[in-house]
Amino acid sequence: MTKNILVSVAWPYASGSRHLGHIGGAYLPADIFARYHRIVGNKVLMVSGSDAHGTPITVRADEEGVTPIDIVEKYHKEFLGYWDKLSISWDNYTTTMTENHKEVTHDIFLNLLEKEYIYKAKTLQAYDPSENRFLPDRYVEGKCPKCDYESARGDQCDSCSSTLDPEELIDPKSKISGNKAEFKETEHFFLKLSALGEDLLPWLETKEDWRPHVINWAKSFVKEGLQDRAITRDLDWGIDIPVDDLGDGKKIYVWFEAVIGYLSASIEWSNNDESRNWEDWWKNKDAESYYFIGKDNVPFHSVIWPAILAGYGDLNLPTNVPANQYILIKGEKASASRSVGKSLSEYLEEWEPDAIRYTLASVLPEQADSELSESEMIRRNNEELVATWGNLVQRVFTQIENNIDNINEASDETEVDTTLLKSGEEAFNNVGEHIEKVELKAALQEAMRYVSKVNIYLNETEPWKIIGEDSKRASRILYTSLTAIDACSNLLSPFMPSTSEKVSNAIPKESNNQWSLNSIKIGTQIETIGHLFKKFD
Ligand code: MF3
Ligand code: ZN
Repeated sequence: MTKNILVSVAWPYASGSRHLGHIGGAYLPADIFARYHRIVGNKVLMVSGSDAHGTPITVRADEEGVTPIDIVEKYHKEFLGYWDKLSISWDNYTTTMTENHKEVTHDIFLNLLEKEYIYKAKTLQAYDPSENRFLPDRYVEGKCPKCDYESARGDQCDSCSSTLDPEELIDPKSKISGNKAEFKETEHFFLKLSALGEDLLPWLETKEDWRPHVINWAKSFVKEGLQDRAITRDLDWGIDIPVDDLGDGKKIYVWFEAVIGYLSASIEWSNNDESRNWEDWWKNKDAESYYFIGKDNVPFHSVIWPAILAGYGDLNLPTNVPANQYILIKGEKASASRSVGKSLSEYLEEWEPDAIRYTLASVLPEQADSELSESEMIRRNNEELVATWGNLVQRVFTQIENNIDNINEASDETEVDTTLLKSGEEAFNNVGEHIEKVELKAALQEAMRYVSKVNIYLNETEPWKIIGEDSKRASRILYTSLTAIDACSNLLSPFMPSTSEKVSNAIPKESNNQWSLNSIKIGTQIETIGHLFKKFD
């Protein structure tokens, strides 16, 4: 039975370049998952876009002395280049600056306002008297009340991943002047999480297959008792509040509207196209939705977004939130802005995209932070891609190419051949099962285990040695190897789509199964494909 699968991927702030950690954290795993589901015939809708609002953008614009729009346009364009090079297969990658996104956000805001899940209240907000302005989110820094980290920001603590409000910070300081922040009264709209959160615990209790670090965090967040949170800010960059009774200089908080992007991007995708209906992914009870994010986004996706959805009603809550931990480079969270590690653009210049995808997929931080060094990337590239997978393809292709006139008749399969093909069938099942459970690192290991088996088979059967005396047996071995190589390329295609397509297209086949064995056309010349991967010194 085909399933509808929504693949929702964290919206990157269009405020700075991305690095390998971001790719391995969310975009690559989402793409592997989406590609697999398309291959096995499910209907996938994979959406995201550039997060255009909030203080990450305005702080950056201030620093560079340009407008927020300049910043968003620059990085949005840069991101599109990454997706293209890395073959991230979006169905819709948009931005939060569209008219459609604003309309959907307003619809949800007004719906919740009407139900009194959103209400207006006076509150104290950090204020910089020397600058005569409020200090929302990242304009204020101080000590984290939960873990004592010294440079927590007004929106979150990067050390313990807590979601914060500026007034919770200890010794808050203005990021603009460095002065101590004062607190001044201002009026805002609040989301009544105290009421919306009530039903979340029973819902979370049903999520037995979520990653432990995600479900544990979500449950304890809800059990602590959810506090109502301000969903507007004293800022002039953002989406207008759809009711005008707060006056000028206030906008919707970026986090309230960015998560709505999953829905608005789905609606945008189906607008003006009769054959597409976003409701098939959002209202069909059998549809599944997966949110690929980094661990710093867990609160918003496992609790706050579900609360908004539950309050609005009639829309599916997340099936799973397979958040990743961090990829560490020399023990530090990978970050281009703090220049830990090379930039993504530098890697894209030096590395083949599939080799980047492979090395990252091998170390996905699914359960714990994982360390990635360039020497380890090079080792995996040279040993696993060049020497194991690439070399296997090369050896078999060359043998067939050079001996095509002698190998158009094959003897019957022997037990070793049957065993190899049978474990190919099993590999499709095992790899598929792992991917469905979002165990992508394990899935890749399984696929590579099969590549190794084919290498062993070839080393043991040595067709090149018997081609002179028993060409029919040599032929059988080579075609069995080619069947297995075709299987390997299909097994690896969610991870390395470009090289897999190249291999698969070069193999003459009777059938074109994408997720099971194919039978090979015996006696047909094979196309040369050259080297798949380049070796680094
Ligand atoms: N822009 C946020 C970040 O980079 C992530 C937003 S995910 C969304 O941390 F769903 F809210 F968009
Ligand atoms: Zn903290």
